[in-house]
Amino acid sequence: MGEKIIVNPKTRWYKDAVVYQIYPRSFCDSNGDGIGDLRGIISKLDYIKSLGVNAVWLSPIYKSPNDDNGYDISDYRDIMDEFGTMADFDEMIKGMHDRGIKLIMDLVVNHTSDEHKWFLESKKSKDNPYRDYYIWREGKGKKPPNNWMSNFVGPAWEYDETTGEYYLHLFSKKQPDLNWENPKVRQEVADICNFWFEKGVDGFRCDVITYISKVPGLPDGNFLKDAPLMGQHNYVMGPRYHEYMHELNERAFSRYDTMTVGEAAGITFKDAYKSIDESVGELDSVFTFEHVNADMYIQVFPHKLSLPKWKKILSNWQSLPLTSQPTLFLENHDQPRSWPRFVMYEKNNKELACKMLLVAMQMMRGTGYIYQGQEIGMTNIELKQEEYIDIMATRIFDTLKKTAPFLMPIARSAMAKRARDHARTPMQWDSSELCGFTTGKPWMKINPNHVDVNVEKQENDVDSILNFYRKFLHFRKGKDVIISGSYVPYYEKNRSLFVYNRVLGNKAYFTICNFKNKPISFKVPKDLNIKSSKVAITNYKEPVSDVLMSRKIAPFEAVVYELELK
Ligand code: GLC
Ligand code: CA
Repeated sequence: MGEKIIVNPKTRWYKDAVVYQIYPRSFCDSNGDGIGDLRGIISKLDYIKSLGVNAVWLSPIYKSPNDDNGYDISDYRDIMDEFGTMADFDEMIKGMHDRGIKLIMDLVVNHTSDEHKWFLESKKSKDNPYRDYYIWREGKGKKPPNNWMSNFVGPAWEYDETTGEYYLHLFSKKQPDLNWENPKVRQEVADICNFWFEKGVDGFRCDVITYISKVPGLPDGNFLKDAPLMGQHNYVMGPRYHEYMHELNERAFSRYDTMTVGEAAGITFKDAYKSIDESVGELDSVFTFEHVNADMYIQVFPHKLSLPKWKKILSNWQSLPLTSQPTLFLENHDQPRSWPRFVMYEKNNKELACKMLLVAMQMMRGTGYIYQGQEIGMTNIELKQEEYIDIMATRIFDTLKKTAPFLMPIARSAMAKRARDHARTPMQWDSSELCGFTTGKPWMKINPNHVDVNVEKQENDVDSILNFYRKFLHFRKGKDVIISGSYVPYYEKNRSLFVYNRVLGNKAYFTICNFKNKPISFKVPKDLNIKSSKVAITNYKEPVSDVLMSRKIAPFEAVVYELELK
């Protein structure tokens, strides 16, 4: 390593990109074992290309015992058995690149699996060379070293009998946290990145990356400061976070023409800016979660969204300078489905609403993200308590059953809207019994609404959600005003309309989105110096009006006017 060699200067291709996220386990199964795999992805590359996305983000495909579906890695340089082989991977990435699609991999390096060879060594003895790859501490009498709680319920420490010490795990006990204070660990991470860059990977989505630096001494958390997660102030954006990211950028990210996006729960605007501005050399962008937490109390209990509050959050991130790239997303593998969540649970007129949500998000500045199934309006699934299989829901249920059974009905109703399982049901390719996902027994329950909601049906309907996604993404591509125009919000207090203008020179795109399923009055703002206007794109079959004028905005209408300014 040592000296910095720039193989490919950064082109910052991601500024104009829309990324399609694949959760491989649920995308497409090629061999009938009920589990999605790489050959399944290969078989769908033309479909992915047809959407008009420029990149794919693949949730983890590395070797893993799957305690947390691949977010617990036991070998960073090999492919999970169920997903295929390295030869399949090589074919998949070639197939993507041949179609002009970049590949972003998931980098899960806050923790490994407890079955990773580093951890198996580490737990053998206190003087094992790998001991210091993880965070081991003596208990306080019979209690863990501190009061931190795991993100998956229960204490963040596990006692290990062999050496009589505890190890830290901010997620499940099968996901021990790496000790980033150890320079060897940091070099291992850089080496892993470079291994995949050499294989042609175009970037990384960095899993819970804001957790990697812990406050020295690992002090106890304080409930008032930390709620709902005891201890979190002592590891979210810890003291050496920027230093570690800078180093990783130097050793890996900056050597190739890559794009990185950090999963940045708890990051503040100021810190985000300090981490992603082009001048800094850390990450290229971050996922922030305020807008997807805005309809929940303590991130668990759903309530109806307040549109003014939501717009304020989004507008705030739009105010990042042009040298910092925002991210635009409504769904991912940890989130419930976006419809009808972001239209305040109004269930009529679904198609218009789904199309409207796409326009509302992606006319803003930033790299766009679409999660598999979002493009056909896949929804949450109804599950019985015993049908939840994700570690988060099952841990919540099991723990409450033992400690506070009277809370079970509340937990059930929260999970019906909030659980991560909702995003992980198999991709609905067609209306057949196994929805075209598999020929075997699917690893997770198929949503019965696949009879109606599926790719095949929407392919054949020019007005489907799917075909609108294609049309819109095609429209969005390469537009300077969308990539770098300024963002000017209007009617910020309005509870029904999301209105903003994007301006570059004398050109502008003026977006109006109605979040209600009823007509809402709209007045053309006085400060627009319009020379001419015309409809650029709308989710209605026929534009409600061809030019920008004061009028009623139709139920769930989304319309973008192209303006020429005086
Ligand atoms: C991230 C992932 C989530 C996973 C967790 C632990 O939040 O998105 O799916 O469970 O990290 O790796
Ligand atoms: Ca399979």
